[in-house]
Amino acid sequence: MTDHAPLPSFPSAFHWGTSTSAYQVEGAAAEDGKGVSIWDTFVRQPGAVREGQTGDVACDHYHRYPEDIGLMAGLGVNAYRFSIAWTRIQPDGSGPANPAGLAFYDRLVDALLEQGITPFPTLFHWDLPQALEDRDGWLARDTAYRFAEYAGLVAERLADRVEHWITLNEPFIHLAYGYAFGVHAPGRALMTDAIPVAHHQLLGHGLAVSALRSAGAARVLIANNCTPVWPASTAPEDQAAADTYDALHNRLFLDPILLGTYPDLSAYGTGPDLRGAVRDGDLDVIAAPLDGLGINYYNPTRVAAPGPEHGLPFQDVPIEGVPRSAFDWPVVPDGLRELLVGLADRYGLALPPVYITENGTSVADKVVAGRVADAERIAFLDGHIRALAEAMEAGVDVRGYLTWTLMDNFEWAEGFTQRFGLVHVDEQTQVRTPKDSYYWLRDRLAELRAGG
Ligand code: NOJ
Repeated sequence: MTDHAPLPSFPSAFHWGTSTSAYQVEGAAAEDGKGVSIWDTFVRQPGAVREGQTGDVACDHYHRYPEDIGLMAGLGVNAYRFSIAWTRIQPDGSGPANPAGLAFYDRLVDALLEQGITPFPTLFHWDLPQALEDRDGWLARDTAYRFAEYAGLVAERLADRVEHWITLNEPFIHLAYGYAFGVHAPGRALMTDAIPVAHHQLLGHGLAVSALRSAGAARVLIANNCTPVWPASTAPEDQAAADTYDALHNRLFLDPILLGTYPDLSAYGTGPDLRGAVRDGDLDVIAAPLDGLGINYYNPTRVAAPGPEHGLPFQDVPIEGVPRSAFDWPVVPDGLRELLVGLADRYGLALPPVYITENGTSVADKVVAGRVADAERIAFLDGHIRALAEAMEAGVDVRGYLTWTLMDNFEWAEGFTQRFGLVHVDEQTQVRTPKDSYYWLRDRLAELRAGG
């Protein structure tokens, strides 16, 4: 049992933290002038979310944030990644800022700083204003300009106290689940016709980098979902399918940012202009230098050549012989080392310092006599933090590890059925119960601080 062995040492300035996002935890869906987002709309469509659940109340973090920051302080973390709900700032996605919306994040930031916790706000974690979706959402180029305007409004208010800013969360997942397959908001199933959504999100990111810097933001990052891609066999067609998948999942959102070019996406029926979306100068905007790259890592992906019936140039095949989460995701800690070392090899000096902005697992947790025994999550964290240390040992510059997530919350189309938290939340009573993994991480962080 290595679970309770001390972790390898980390630099003293390392950011240890937890991550959440606005729609998943805040609740208060119609309070203080908040507008309607695409998730407020989507959850009301029959069959969209398991058991018809919604994030209307979620973890009620909008009202209970002092208690939640107390949990973070008790855990001993020095960083918190949260997201800002665009619809609290601009209810309809444009125009002047709503003072009550800004005031909430102002209070949250001050309460974090009082506890010595560095805020890492994300400006877009999938909850687009419905008013912008009504004008075609991220399929419309104008949404990129609206996003930059919103980013500037938030930074003008908070950049005097907030150093680290994250533009987008997982633009690949938003493209794939939200616009290609339609299983997330806005529920559009356009398959490869959704490709311009990638470019418009990236353009929004690039424009926001400049708006954030003009408003005084010191460090700007993006948080991408990345996965090591494993070919199902050594057959050339499986290798080719793996390269094709890697181009879509990883490189589509890294190459333009770090290298100023798009990868070859001809297998998806698109040229380098991404179906006419790319205009002169866009790639220069998108490639604006960054201060860090956020990586959300959950698992590797195993890919084979598609069968004749497949509409896409790859197919997912299961990874065998490893533990699986309650979500049925394979648990492969070494995939984090492989991913980071692979990114450093691929991008070399173009790779900025890396922050692990999400990493975690869902477990079918239950409170039994006041305790949640989540040994699987402890093993997950232990394995992944050790893999991270190995990547750093191999020379990758990593500055932080922010686990997903502080507390059980609204897991999108799965509602509250997938629990990823260090803290159990009973969504009926809002009672928070720290799990064994919370105490495990608290003790490991205390050892690291003590130099042990
Ligand atoms: C990534 C997303 O950013 C987050 O919102 C989600 O809850 C976790 N993955 C787990 O699925």
